[in-house]
Amino acid sequence: MDPASNRYQLLPYARCGFSGLKLPRISLGLWQNFGSSSSFENARDMILKSFDHGITHFDLANNYGPPPGSAEENFGRILSTDLAAYRDELIISTKAGYLMWPGPYGEWGSRKYLLASLERSLERMKLDYVDIFYSHRVQETMGALATAVQSGKALYAGISSYGPERTREAAAILRDLKVPCVIHQPSYSLLNRWVEGGLLDVLEQEGIGCIAFSPLAQGLLTTKYLNGIPPSARAAQEGSFRTSMLTPKNLANVRALNDIAQKRGQSLAQMAIAWVLKNPAITSALVGASSWPQIQDSLGALQNNAFTPAELSQIDAHASDGGLNIWAASSQSG
Ligand SMILES: NC(=O)c1ccc[n+]([C@@H]2O[C@H](COP(=O)([O-])OP(=O)(O)OC[C@H]3O[C@@H](n4cnc5c(N)ncnc54)[C@H](OP(=O)(O)O)[C@@H]3O)[C@@H](O)[C@H]2O)c1
Repeated sequence: MDPASNRYQLLPYARCGFSGLKLPRISLGLWQNFGSSSSFENARDMILKSFDHGITHFDLANNYGPPPGSAEENFGRILSTDLAAYRDELIISTKAGYLMWPGPYGEWGSRKYLLASLERSLERMKLDYVDIFYSHRVQETMGALATAVQSGKALYAGISSYGPERTREAAAILRDLKVPCVIHQPSYSLLNRWVEGGLLDVLEQEGIGCIAFSPLAQGLLTTKYLNGIPPSARAAQEGSFRTSMLTPKNLANVRALNDIAQKRGQSLAQMAIAWVLKNPAITSALVGASSWPQIQDSLGALQNNAFTPAELSQIDAHASDGGLNIWAASSQSG
């Protein structure tokens, strides 16, 4: 079926740092719910409807699934059956860093691992190149990112979860290698504000775009956990959403933030995304989803993304760090 003809009238696009690349203000990530342990038809529905609504950027990594690799395989299948004619309209990213295969070359940041992993990602997605290749773990990998770009297997280099100093270092190394660092992908939400402690300033100074992942704190910044854990929710599955994150303090903050969202006439998910996007350093909010109606709700964030100073100070009183940054170690490790 052809994609919707009005798809480019629905969503704003923002320039990524000083680069010429524009990203949709809301992008879709395939970390959870797109692997072979989830419904293929649901994954396909989310991807095709997202594209119909102007989402041009899909974010993957070698290990997304579950199981690892299967999100790229499914995405490759959907690309070749439904979107093959639209490759030039898509920004597809992948990453390497976390454990992917056994032994010393199956994780971390060696050139050996990164470039082999990129080859395997391209095979799984049946692609000649990705648009953005990220290192999301260590810093001694800039040469490999530059090789990926110079060999044409990636168009842009990005880094993920690096702290402010390592970001500056990485940007300088990449500049020397004549491959600019175009994008940084950190976690950022109302309950996880670590990027405000210097990283966003560095990104603005360096002209690096920023795509904020987990703006809904993996679903905590919605109303779904206010009355227990629904069996279908991410926190009910073994994995990245630890139930220890559902502290009374976090839930009280979520409840208070939900009241503010209601007064603004939007869902809490919408307010959480709008709040992340209000920062001028943020190019795109990288959301996840387990169904198309969730993505549709999230896209509604763009209908009301202005905040009064009074709203911002009410929000600040409840947007306090909730111990959710499970990626903190990789922002410091080298
Ligand atoms: N670079 C890195 O190290 C890194 C790490 C993590 C993530 N990421 C990227 O960021 C992307 C997004 O991460 P995330 O999935 O944690 O993002 P998120 O947007 O914070 O959370 C998505 C989850 O929130 C729930 N949800 C989404 N929209 C909703 C809505 N409108 N109403 C109610 N619930 C809603 C769903 O939970 P249920 O499944 O419970 O329904 C969904 O799976 C990933 O796919 C990946 O691309 C990158």
